[in-house]
Amino acid sequence: MARVIAVANQKGGVGKTTTSVNLSSALALKGKRVLVIDIDPQGNATSGLGIDKFGVDGSLYEVFSGVFNLSSVILGTELPSLWLAPAHSDLVGAEVELSSTPGRELILKKEIARLNAQFDYIFIDCPPSLSLLTVNAFTAADSILVPLQCEYYALEGITSLMQTIEIARKQLNPHLELEGVVLTMYDGRTNLSRQVVHEAREFFREKLFQTIIPRNVRLSECPSFGRPIFLHDPSSLGAGAYEALAEEFQRRRRLADEGRNNEQVNSDQNGHAEKVVANQS
Ligand SMILES: Nc1ncnc2c1ncn2[C@@H]1O[C@H](COP(=O)(O)OP(=O)(O)OP(=O)(O)O)[C@@H](O)[C@H]1O
Ligand SMILES: [Mg+2]
Repeated sequence: MARVIAVANQKGGVGKTTTSVNLSSALALKGKRVLVIDIDPQGNATSGLGIDKFGVDGSLYEVFSGVFNLSSVILGTELPSLWLAPAHSDLVGAEVELSSTPGRELILKKEIARLNAQFDYIFIDCPPSLSLLTVNAFTAADSILVPLQCEYYALEGITSLMQTIEIARKQLNPHLELEGVVLTMYDGRTNLSRQVVHEAREFFREKLFQTIIPRNVRLSECPSFGRPIFLHDPSSLGAGAYEALAEEFQRRRRLADEGRNNEQVNSDQNGHAEKVVANQS
């Protein structure tokens, strides 16, 4: 079963798309089968992966409208192990059109469940809002990855994001986890960046990824070439940072899975012990 990760922060321009595109590319280059689902009407993940958003036959708009299945809009990318479900500006309309549709928060979850192709990871690149599209992502996801830009007021709005995650957990998706928080656009020359790191560490503790993504010109050039950093400039600092993030992401996932398996073993053993006792009495 694929792990589904929503990349979200209602603040604009904090590095959601850059992280979706480059973390998924790094994992694909490690041999994982990865799907990026673009649910942002801006379609930046779509163009960032080299797909002409105006030239696609089907997109997330048609998926939300019920015209196409998710599996039928998936496209290959330049990386053999990375796929994309594209978006474009039509998707703005889906929100309004769905306003009175029952079960409208569940559309993406149902579509992901129906996927016939096997993926290790599915990343959902969310728009900068806590809209119905984002709620669909929170309902479909196993976890949320939050990029946080090293800037003034970085933590502003985090409370409402955490509240929305809590509401989604209570009402729609009790298993939703916080995958982690990743700091982006770090500039080691400024006190401000260092201060944000300090504050974020205090606030998120072990949920903060150790890997910090630096501000890097090569990363900012990627969207105009429609290529992930590993194809644009694999020797850049940005490529190194996203490679390190992918390593850390996988390491944490392994630890989390081992923890879960141990819990399972313990509860199985407890269950067995109870059964033995019950048989003896
Ligand atoms: N580490 C970085 N170094 C330099 N530029 C970056 C970095 N990360 C992102 N950028 C640039 O900053 C801008 C915003 O990044 P991005 O599009 O990833 O943010 P976003 O959160 O997805 O934005 P939106 O909220 O509009 O969807 C883009 O122009 C991107 O190229
Ligand atoms: Mg974006």
